[in-house]
Amino acid sequence: MAVILMTGASGSIGRMLRQRLGQHELRLTDVRAGEGVEALDVTDAAAVDRACRGVDAVVHLGGISGEGPFEEVLAVNVRGTERILQAAHHNGVPRVVLASSNHAVGLYERSDAGPDGLPDDVPPRPDSYYGWSKAAMEALGRLYHDRHGLHVVCLRIGSCAERPADPRDLSVWLSPDDVARLVEASLTATGWRLVWGVSANTRRWWSTAGGRAIGYVPRDDAEEWAAEVGEPDPAAPEHRLVGGTMPTGPLGAA
Ligand SMILES: NC(=O)c1ccc[n+]([C@@H]2O[C@H](COP(=O)([O-])OP(=O)(O)OC[C@H]3O[C@@H](n4cnc5c(N)ncnc54)[C@H](O)[C@@H]3O)[C@@H](O)[C@H]2O)c1
Repeated sequence: MAVILMTGASGSIGRMLRQRLGQHELRLTDVRAGEGVEALDVTDAAAVDRACRGVDAVVHLGGISGEGPFEEVLAVNVRGTERILQAAHHNGVPRVVLASSNHAVGLYERSDAGPDGLPDDVPPRPDSYYGWSKAAMEALGRLYHDRHGLHVVCLRIGSCAERPADPRDLSVWLSPDDVARLVEASLTATGWRLVWGVSANTRRWWSTAGGRAIGYVPRDDAEEWAAEVGEPDPAAPEHRLVGGTMPTGPLGAA
């Protein structure tokens, strides 16, 4: 059992994890306080520092979770993550799990994937300001690992939802139970790591190596919903690109 500070706990993934990480002592926080969730704005350095006292790990989910104006993603996602890492270091918290995103590398294509799939640690190739902010978060995590020895796992999450919503999700879906398995594995991982956050989807084309290396064993498969969501159009850019439709949307538009 560990004492875990969770940011963004009122959000979609936060709600999934709250139900599934019950064996730990969870300190739930979000800029939107709610039942069992305390108010914490990750851009407030002093408040983040206080929240990190006596904690074993931070699961950092809080932030802007889609495309937005550059100044906003910079302020919340990048500066907010710096506050988290700084406070973790200052308070001797050994481990931070960062919610990165496939959009940090959204402009890679299927043709970039080798026989074992697209590696977990392909260099950043953001598809949006949002994706750029996630790449910056990953780099900040590396800085704090290299300079201060923090263990930092950056999860390049695909599409995390109760069930697959569209044909792309047949490849990139991350189920609620699997995101809990992934975070659980990340809570014992060492070093600085980039790991895809995807389920055991039959049509997955992103590597399983990074997950295997930290003991993440996904069990769910989007294929169960294939008839419901329909077949992808192989000629569509969203089928070809890691980032789906994000790379073709307007830059900076919320
Ligand atoms: N759901 C996915 O498929 C997916 C995919 C890739 C990456 N991610 C990342 O995972 C994380 C969680 O995603 P989600 O789907 O739960 O998103 P969400 O938008 O449902 O939740 C994000 C939460 O962060 C909170 N937040 C916003 N600004 C904050 C601030 N300044 N301080 C503290 N909290 C703040 C929001 O109130 C919200 O509750 C996000 O960082 C997102 O970018 C999610």
